[in-house]
Amino acid sequence: MKDTLYKKAVEVLENNWKEGFSIPCAKLYPFQWFWDSGLIAIGFAHFDMKKAEQEIETLLDAQWGNGFIPHIIFHTESDTYFPGPDFHRSDLHPQSSKKYRSTGMTQPPVTGFVLEEIYKISKDKPATLKFIEGVIDKVYFNHEYFYDNRDPQNEGLVYIYHNWESGTDNSPIWDDIWKTMNPPEYTFERRDTTHVDAAERPSKREYDHYLYIIDIAKEHNYSDEKIAELSPFLVQDPLFNAMLIKSSKSLIKLYERIGGNEEKIAQLTQWQQKAIATFNEKLYDDSLGAYVHYDLRNEKPIKFLSSSSFAPIYAGIPSKERADKMVEVMLQKFGGDHQYLCASFDPDSERFNPKKYWRGPVWVNLNWMLHNGLKAYGYSDVALRVKQDTIALMENNGFYEYFDSRKDMHKDGNAGYGGHNFSWSAALLIDLLEKEE
Ligand code: DGY
Repeated sequence: MKDTLYKKAVEVLENNWKEGFSIPCAKLYPFQWFWDSGLIAIGFAHFDMKKAEQEIETLLDAQWGNGFIPHIIFHTESDTYFPGPDFHRSDLHPQSSKKYRSTGMTQPPVTGFVLEEIYKISKDKPATLKFIEGVIDKVYFNHEYFYDNRDPQNEGLVYIYHNWESGTDNSPIWDDIWKTMNPPEYTFERRDTTHVDAAERPSKREYDHYLYIIDIAKEHNYSDEKIAELSPFLVQDPLFNAMLIKSSKSLIKLYERIGGNEEKIAQLTQWQQKAIATFNEKLYDDSLGAYVHYDLRNEKPIKFLSSSSFAPIYAGIPSKERADKMVEVMLQKFGGDHQYLCASFDPDSERFNPKKYWRGPVWVNLNWMLHNGLKAYGYSDVALRVKQDTIALMENNGFYEYFDSRKDMHKDGNAGYGGHNFSWSAALLIDLLEKEE
């Protein structure tokens, strides 16, 4: 069974490969996405290192003159996706790529830790280190972009200015921010809901908000300064910042392995120490026993539990004492016998919806991070459970984008939702199956 599943996962990745990069899945996401690409490269590294490297190279080739890496790179024309390049207009930014059209927003910066994962997987370490040596400065430049441009109060935490930058697109975390805005009713043709049941996707009114934030950024040619001043959405996200911290840690290890680069190592260490200190001080919520988002525009914490609340475990951010508490909360609230770990949003909340995208379903990328983080902290049993749950979800349903967290929904193998033959689900499954316990 495991062998068959592995082979099927390889097939998914092969089918979604497009001459130098991967699409997350056909029709619904027909371009290259930033954090998808990184996680997909981890899967490829196990059976086709050349493709893993190309995936990263193509992504970094789209980097802007200021170090920014966009969230979608529109390699081709496609009429199956909205909003496309004509809406996003990355050309408005003076330093945007002249080679690729893209969005003017980014996504969780996974590239640093992806390079380290690829190195760990590699069976030809000298060759892989040589590849890393050729690309690592671009990733460093990306981190420099974040700390120089996205931390207006110089705290060590960076902001995101759009829910699509978080990766957790329609999380209930954002609901209270939507209440502070009153966007116009846009007229547009949704494409996602022609591929996927509308009950599994964000609403039209939510899309109005998404488009409106982009319009504000476009009015100011995607200037970071203006966005920091004017965007109605400005959030310090624990998942996003944990990814950045984890990636900085990986860059330090890789630079040390390469040799030289003392100044960069010193700078990364400084960013990282400050980031971890503020993260623990500002984003930890004692009453919830986990980390929460901070609304920088309205200067207040957003007190909800989501899978992002536990992601800092992957970056080694909490103390052991805090991690103990977090694991207890996760098991109690997200891990009852009737549930698969780990729902993307608090199952006890009235905002929880186990079918709707980031409002409740289980996601493979978050589970993969949790599994690795839990293992590193020594919670072997819980780590194993997360792994087994993740494998079971794909065994029962196939390589879906997200899955119902309620076990009783899985009896007929029909509780996988969103896109099918989804690349990072396949890629991270390969990685999980390869890892010894
Ligand atoms: C979408 O179109 O839903 C994408 O996730 C945006 O990144």
